[in-house]
Amino acid sequence: MAEEKKGFSHDTIERNTLLLVVLILITVSIGGLVQIVPLFTIESTIEKVDGVRPHSPLELAGFNIYVREGCYNCHSQQIRPFRDEVERYGHYSLAAESMYDRPFQWSSKRTGPDLARVGGKYSNDWQVAHLVDPRAVVPESIMPGYAWMKDRPLKYDDIQTHLKTLKVLGSPYTDEQIANAKADLEAQKNPDGDVAAFQKRYPKAVVANFTGNKQVTEMDALVAYLQMLGTLVDFTKYQSPKQLQQ
Ligand code: HEC
Repeated sequence: MAEEKKGFSHDTIERNTLLLVVLILITVSIGGLVQIVPLFTIESTIEKVDGVRPHSPLELAGFNIYVREGCYNCHSQQIRPFRDEVERYGHYSLAAESMYDRPFQWSSKRTGPDLARVGGKYSNDWQVAHLVDPRAVVPESIMPGYAWMKDRPLKYDDIQTHLKTLKVLGSPYTDEQIANAKADLEAQKNPDGDVAAFQKRYPKAVVANFTGNKQVTEMDALVAYLQMLGTLVDFTKYQSPKQLQQ
C-alpha cells in the first residue's frame, strides 16, 4: 500500500525533529500553565493557621542535623488525610505546618513511622535513649543509633546568620528574634535560667536540658526539634476548609 499522505500529517511532525520539539514544548507548557496560573489568582496557596511559627534557634539547629543525617530517608513528615493515617498519627498535616522548613521534610518513604506529630509523644529521656540506641527501647527496631551525637558539641556560632538568611527567604523572624538568636538557643537548653522572654518569642518550644550535658550538644538540638513537631497548631480550635470537612 503506497503512502499517499500529503500536507501536514503526523508523519511530517515525526520526521522533523525541530518541529516535534517545538510542538512538544507548546503542549507541555499548556499543561503547566493550566496548573500554575490559577494559583496566582488566589491570595495564598498556603492558608494561614494560628500557632505556626518559625523554628526556635535550637530547633532550627536540630532541623539541620535531621537533614544532615538523612532522617528523611526513613521517616516522612506528612500525614495524609486518610482514615488509617489519621487514626495512627493524628490530624492530617496542613501545608502551613511545614511552610518554614527549608528544605521541606515530607519525604517519600516510611521505613520508620511518620514523625509529623511525634512531638510530646515520648519524654525527652526516651528520645535521647532511643537515639543513642534504638534497640534499648524498641527491641525490634532497625533504626541506626546516633550515640556520638549525645556528647558532640553543637556548632552554633552562625545561628544568627542562619535566621537572617531564612528571613530573606520569607520566614518571618523579627529583629528581636534575630538579635537574640544565640541567647535564645542557649536559653532553650537551660530550664533554670530566665526563659520567659524566650518562650514569648517561641510559644510551645520545649525548654529542657535534654541530654544532661553542660554544653549544648547536637542531640539537645535534635530532640528539641523532634519534641516540637506537630505541636504548634491547636486542633481543638482549628477549623478545616469546607471542602475537606466531611
Ligand atoms: C534506616 C532507617 C532509619 C533511619 C535512617 C532513621 N530512622 Fe528513626 N526509625 C526507624 C524505624 C524502623 C523506627 C521504628 C522503630 C523504633 O522506634 O526504633 C524508627 C523510629 C523513630 C522514632 C520514634 C517514632 C515513633 O512514633 O515511635 C523517632 C522519633 C525517630 N525514629 C527519629 C529518627 C531521627 C531523628 C533520625 C535521624 C537522626 C532517624 N530516626 C533515622 C528507622 C530509621
